[in-house]
Amino acid sequence: MSKLKLFTYSGVAAVMLGFTACNDKEHPGWEYMPDMYRGPALNTFQAYDQFEDSLSARLPVEGTIPRGFLAYDKLPNTPEGYERSKTETKMPADFPSDSLTLSEGGKLYGIYCAHCHGEKGDGNGILVQLEKYVGVPAYDTREINLGSIFHVVTYGKGVMGSHAAQVTPEERWKVAQYVMKLRSELLGVTEEPAEEDAGATADAAGSEETTETNEG
Ligand code: HEC
Repeated sequence: MSKLKLFTYSGVAAVMLGFTACNDKEHPGWEYMPDMYRGPALNTFQAYDQFEDSLSARLPVEGTIPRGFLAYDKLPNTPEGYERSKTETKMPADFPSDSLTLSEGGKLYGIYCAHCHGEKGDGNGILVQLEKYVGVPAYDTREINLGSIFHVVTYGKGVMGSHAAQVTPEERWKVAQYVMKLRSELLGVTEEPAEEDAGATADAAGSEETTETNEG
């Protein structure tokens, strides 16, 4: 064997040996770029002995809320809380009350409320007609306002369950506006134009169109 061949073979053997790890799984030997296997950041629920419970996952700071979340924990879910909602639960002053908001409220109402309360809010929804549900009031028979509707959708009332899981606080204000519109229609004090031409006759929409005309 020539010297050159011997040199080449032993060189290759040395390199191959260098890349081989020993069989000991606890100590895999030399690692090229260990950061790629084990990032310096902690993994969720990784054991981590720097904290008392030795878990890397931490609870969010108390009182943390998701971005954009409007919390409603102002009043308790009690008859007393319900009464107070009529005066204390206020729609945010800058919440839109234009015709677009109202029509969004109408859509939400169709999805979440109409099957009990009826399209017109007369308490005669399809579930009531089919006698699956009883005791649904017409909106004009109750002393309600935006705040109390928001409260009732949040917590429920009597046999009506809470809709907090389906209807976000923002949607609740929209649907509450729509319920108030239905109520005034039932009471026969409608200033609103028919829904179809809400855009065309903006002046007749009263509070609906306040964003542009007057500050509401
Ligand atoms: C499963 C049937 C059902 C659904 C769905 C439902 N309600 Fe009701 N709702 C009722 C019943 C029954 C009552 C009467 C509760 C009571 O006072 O005993 C009621 C009462 C109300 C009242 C009057 C509460 C008061 O202050 O006296 C409002 C306002 C109301 N619902 C709004 C809504 C809105 C808005 C939705 C949709 C987000 C909705 N409801 C969905 C059954 C329903």
